[in-house]
Amino acid sequence: MNGSRNKWKLFTRQEGEHMEQIAKGIWKVVFGEPEKYTPEYFRSFPIKKEMIDKITISRKPKIKEEDLEWKKTKRGVAITLPISAGEDIYGFGLQLRNFNQAGKRRYLKVNSDPVSDTGETHAPVPFYISSEGYGLFANTFRYAAFSMGTSSERGKSSAMTAENEPHEEFSESALYALKRAGQERKVIIDIPAAKGIELYFFEGDFMETVQRYNLFSGGGCIPPMWGLGMWYRIYGGSCQTDVKHFTEYFRKENMPMDVLGLEPGWHSHSYSCTYKWSDLFPHPGEMIKEASGQGYKLNLWEHLYVYPKAPFYEELYPYSGDYEVWNGLVPDFAMKEAWKIFEDYHRETFVKKGIAGFKLDECDNSDYNPSNWGFPDASEFPSGMDGEQMHLAMGVLYQNLIYGIYKKENKRTYSQVRSSGALASPMPFVLYSDLYDHKQFIRGMVNAGFSGLLWCPEVRSCKNGDDLLRRLQTVVFSAHALINGWRLPNPPWEQTDIKQNLAGEKMEGAEYYTKECRKLFELRMSLLPYLYSAYVDYYRTGKPPIRALLMDYPEDAAARAVDDEFLFGESMLVCPLTYEDGISREVYLPKGSWYDFFTGEMIKGGEKTEVKAQYDQIPVFVKEGAIIPLARPVPYVDKDTVFEMDVKMFGEADGKFILFSDDFETFDFENTQNTAVLEKHPGKPLEVIKGNNLRYSFSGI
Ligand code: GAL
Repeated sequence: MNGSRNKWKLFTRQEGEHMEQIAKGIWKVVFGEPEKYTPEYFRSFPIKKEMIDKITISRKPKIKEEDLEWKKTKRGVAITLPISAGEDIYGFGLQLRNFNQAGKRRYLKVNSDPVSDTGETHAPVPFYISSEGYGLFANTFRYAAFSMGTSSERGKSSAMTAENEPHEEFSESALYALKRAGQERKVIIDIPAAKGIELYFFEGDFMETVQRYNLFSGGGCIPPMWGLGMWYRIYGGSCQTDVKHFTEYFRKENMPMDVLGLEPGWHSHSYSCTYKWSDLFPHPGEMIKEASGQGYKLNLWEHLYVYPKAPFYEELYPYSGDYEVWNGLVPDFAMKEAWKIFEDYHRETFVKKGIAGFKLDECDNSDYNPSNWGFPDASEFPSGMDGEQMHLAMGVLYQNLIYGIYKKENKRTYSQVRSSGALASPMPFVLYSDLYDHKQFIRGMVNAGFSGLLWCPEVRSCKNGDDLLRRLQTVVFSAHALINGWRLPNPPWEQTDIKQNLAGEKMEGAEYYTKECRKLFELRMSLLPYLYSAYVDYYRTGKPPIRALLMDYPEDAAARAVDDEFLFGESMLVCPLTYEDGISREVYLPKGSWYDFFTGEMIKGGEKTEVKAQYDQIPVFVKEGAIIPLARPVPYVDKDTVFEMDVKMFGEADGKFILFSDDFETFDFENTQNTAVLEKHPGKPLEVIKGNNLRYSFSGI
């Protein structure tokens, strides 16, 4: 132990400690000498201070002044603060295996296949929110461990006297019953290797703390409208002719489709990558032109491990780490030289030639796989970063680099990434991986919204046609409507079984499943303008477009346990079923009147209800007074698309909805955005106040 504990007076400056208010309800505290390379160091989006100032503070944190402590330890820095019995904790990035993190120890290590509930994930974020009215962000790229009320200090229990009392029950669960604190314990934040740390506190209720954190990160992203449409990733072994086949297929089948993704086979070598077209794609320029002529955007799979045959291998060599991954270099994106080499090549070779985005794979390390899947934590990079820091920074740096190219070209992208971290909300990238079951996918969507992340419950492996429908239902109400067919030469609605798909055999009912999938694609397309408004809100106010129920209902204790329903935009509550659920599940609706989105039927909230849904149905409920604008589905979105709108209204209460209109694909929206304001009042017809140059028409209204 190095020195004594230092007590920190909340909101009062002490010698050797620095504390300042960054914006309304955001406080920064500096303990000791923080490290150079942190999420803040690499930030490329300014804090949206004016927006933060507009957000109310409905709750004040209950932390007492004298209760926050820090110390230097032999292994780094430790911070402690109180956590009370019954305090609920959420966040820590993309968590798939747990929801309420109180009573848990979270190890924030980046890992592509976390095998149990340790906190490890593709996208760890050292940020949590508490039901006691605050959020806390530790500005570090270290494998920080957060003990959320698992420990109390020596002597804390010395006054306990109970002895020789009969066991009410003798079982493992009774013996281990103190898992969740029955009395006040401590949050202990253990940050290895560092000699100091910056902490940020965010005040408010659940929603307000998340909004503050997202606006502190730079606000949410606004994807291009096409990015919110349907996506399909084509079989990895495809060639240029197969791509042509798919471009024709979707249009012929009347299945809306905006983006086609190419998998590793397009590289002349992968893994690691050459970033050069393979012989299977003799005329990529022609392919891009043809696809875009039919309304498609193309997205390219890659990772950042650079194969010796890559055109910029030699140039990059001095700016890479001292270990390889899959025989490739690991670029040090903390160095502007490495950044520029990678950026220039991607701009000239792909972005300028019309590639609309990338799938940034494998940047999330793996500790449990054989072979050279990742570099060691002891790696050294020319910038001075070590392997541990680089693992945590890599996903965010990679996104920043790719985003920067599109930003300079004044084109928006919507792309994919397998690792992310702190301060990522402004980046238009969606996380993915198929290592989870459907329930975990849904929990991932609910949790990702606490930490400025977007998560795709991609449809990839399905047991059968009904499982496909269940998964697709979740996907069409997610941040990213993606079917990942990288292992299937034919679409999954024709055959879900991989072997039979490879053999070209259709499954029983293929026609029925094709029809049902088409309907779900159309449903997604009808939701685009509504979802776009949710993203504009994310950008402006930091409210996540997809989020946990408890964020909208902070006073509702029952909502705090709900990890299998989520809000989709301002007014829709989606309660997906998995194939394993069969055709009914329990849903929880907060107090008040709710409406079935599809039938309009009113349902009283405030309790759990059993709902039935056949395999071709998904329960979606709408808030009282909601206005949901719905577009007539288009086959794809392009620069001239004008959506023909219908409007659904629910309940008697006053309602308002704002549709945002711009070019849907450049950054010009930052200066000009037009609106159509929809308003309803009891007993009066819907009022539509139309701005100029709208990309919406309201013929029926
Ligand atoms: C995986 C990724 C898949 C697919 C595959 C190609 O890591 O999750 O979606 O892209 O790589 O090799």
